[in-house]
Amino acid sequence: MIRRPHKVMKPRAAGPATAPTGAGLLVVHAAELVTLRGPWARARRGEEMRDLGIVPDGAVYIEGGRIREVGDTREVLRVRGGAADVLDATGKVVLPGFVDAHTHAAFAGSRHEELAWKVEGLSFREVLARGGGIHRTVRDTRAATKEAIVAATRKRLDGMLRFGTTTAEVKSGYGLTTESELAILQAIDELAGSHPMSLVSTFMGAHTVPPEFQGRADAYAGLVADEMVPAVASRTGARFCDVWVEGGLFSADHARRIFAAAKAHGLEAKVHADELSDTGGAALAAEVGAVSADHLLHASDAGLGAMAEKGVIGVVLPSASVAAGLPFADARRLIRAGVPVALGSDLNPGAWNESMQGVLALATHRLGMYPEEAIVAATVNAAFAIGKGKEVGALDPGMAGDLLILDADAVGHLGYRLGGNLVEKVVKAGRVVMDRSPLR
Ligand code: NIG
Ligand code: FE
Repeated sequence: MIRRPHKVMKPRAAGPATAPTGAGLLVVHAAELVTLRGPWARARRGEEMRDLGIVPDGAVYIEGGRIREVGDTREVLRVRGGAADVLDATGKVVLPGFVDAHTHAAFAGSRHEELAWKVEGLSFREVLARGGGIHRTVRDTRAATKEAIVAATRKRLDGMLRFGTTTAEVKSGYGLTTESELAILQAIDELAGSHPMSLVSTFMGAHTVPPEFQGRADAYAGLVADEMVPAVASRTGARFCDVWVEGGLFSADHARRIFAAAKAHGLEAKVHADELSDTGGAALAAEVGAVSADHLLHASDAGLGAMAEKGVIGVVLPSASVAAGLPFADARRLIRAGVPVALGSDLNPGAWNESMQGVLALATHRLGMYPEEAIVAATVNAAFAIGKGKEVGALDPGMAGDLLILDADAVGHLGYRLGGNLVEKVVKAGRVVMDRSPLR
């Protein structure tokens, strides 16, 4: 096949597209323009998850950071030609930037030394019992300055962006004291204001019971609800509050107490649900009106039914299963139950995956998702799972000008390729923020 060079054309005297002039950005001749447009102003479910809204020979026009025009290249050029820096996407796929619906990306340190324990067969709970896992990262993060957390997290965000993530949710949860949780959330706020990626932050003081409260989960849940929630709501930009409902951690009643406080302070609920066992987390998410229930490896039929009825999004996280040696969530079962499914990397020190492309490959090969469903789950549905469904996740006029140009001529390469990086360019709010095109 003859490869046409990836040209940057400039119809008007303007700077290179990578250093924009303030003019709009026009991306033309995409072999497949994956718009993900549709009539649904909500997360997609069932058959809706198979519809990618592909326009052959498609074009997108972005101005002022937002999408203004989407459609057939000839038509878009007729309306907007000559008004912009132009990127020629001949032979390439163009799609919205990935949205990562669930990360624990804000932490200090690393847990690479623990990998040997996993190789020797230690379970998630056994690693925790040895003072490893979350406990280890809590020690490292408490000892770090806010600046150190910002610097370490920034590197991970850079990595995610290179793999095509343009919006991500980031949780706290490695501080577990009011002061340290505030520092983590303020670090995320700082990155939200200075990193090209859009961030949504979640307070997760109820990530685990810290050692100083061992055997006193009630008292710790009280501290989270009565002291941490009000402090977080008034001093950070957190939008959500997440609780890990699990045997030996937080009960449904602890979660109810924390979510009642969260709601009173304007934080919306998310639940780490049914990850290690069925603890009724899915049903609880429906009961408290959570935006999403995440993990869901052991969710019951009744729990999934309740989620479907309330429109609670099921966020599945295959990297977590790989890294913790757990079974995979059955996404097919969720989709059949009518639950809108989203994907996340779950990037955390025990499951360090910065690549949503890798997550897509796990979703197709291990969770029973068709590539189309995985793409919907990693864009529109992930956006709805973090309260940004009206802003990002699809290429539609009025939405953010966040898109990826892939070095592939069919979107079916996503989910099919197990490794590598197909992302050639990342456009964020109409600006090229990452460019790996080969020099020719
Ligand atoms: O989402 N499930 C809870 N928390 C993380 C693990 C965090 C860690 O191991 O540091 C998760 O898998
Ligand atoms: Fe998680």
